[in-house]
Amino acid sequence: MPKVYVTRPIAEQALDMIRRQAEVTLWSDPDRPPPHAELVRGVRDADGLLCLLTDQVDAEVIAAGERLKVISTHAVGYDNIDVAAATARGIPVCNTPGVLTEATADLTWALIMAAARRVTEAERYLRAGKWKSWSPQLLLGLEVHRATLGIVGLGRIGQAVARRARGFDLRVLCTSASRKPEAEGELGAEFVDLETLLRESDIVSVHVPLTEATRGLIGAAELALMKPTALLINTARGPVIDQAALVQALQQGVIAGAGLDVYEVEPLPADDPLLALDNVVLLPHLGSATVATRTRMAVMAAENLIAGITGERPPYLVNPEVLA
Ligand code: DGY
Repeated sequence: MPKVYVTRPIAEQALDMIRRQAEVTLWSDPDRPPPHAELVRGVRDADGLLCLLTDQVDAEVIAAGERLKVISTHAVGYDNIDVAAATARGIPVCNTPGVLTEATADLTWALIMAAARRVTEAERYLRAGKWKSWSPQLLLGLEVHRATLGIVGLGRIGQAVARRARGFDLRVLCTSASRKPEAEGELGAEFVDLETLLRESDIVSVHVPLTEATRGLIGAAELALMKPTALLINTARGPVIDQAALVQALQQGVIAGAGLDVYEVEPLPADDPLLALDNVVLLPHLGSATVATRTRMAVMAAENLIAGITGERPPYLVNPEVLA
């Protein structure tokens, strides 16, 4: 039987599928990834690796996996995997696109609403016993309906976020590496350059993958273009935003607030300055965290893994050229 290494407990349905086809070594800590040295050890005699976005599948891991026939990640993003090193070894890398689009768009809207209407800050205020009376000036926020929403990256998730904007009667601006005239038309989204989007939006929501081109895409100069009343939302990848610049912008009132699900370093260190700010809503990378979506992701990752170890073509390949 082929051997596979699975770096965390995932939906039982998916683990059952894998166990029917392979001998599974499972890193069983539900809360922490295997240390890097353990990952290197784990792939040594494995035919397949099922990893998460928290595993650094770098050149060392890939070199150690001499028998590896497939790397299947339980995520759509694969910036944690050295795809070039895998491709050089002819190893297919697979991900889970599509199935988490709607859940991530839902959570983006949760952040938009929470940041605009200061929901978590208000709850902290109430729980701390500070609420003395209904007051005309208490915890006033940003009006979301009929505001201007700027979508940075009109891929699947960006489009799903824009679709939900209709219900709030928003003006939608978008910018993307490539034009998508059909989606833009269908969503009523106006394509503009990044500078215009930042200047004109009340809410800027980031939906680009992390690549060398998008790392630090929103830094101090970009934040300075935004309205002082604007909000910045990120459910994509932390390093797309220069976090130190964002902290400064939030402290100095360059922008009004932010809603973040992702960070430059995850988990967010206990002494991170973001934690001291009231004008930011912070979530622990929960974009796809619903029972149904996480189960679909696990099953898809299992299907990719099983196809790879049994010599079939995995359905969702990041580097299809390895099987050309
Ligand atoms: C992904 O899949 O890349 C998300 O960040 C986690 O669901």
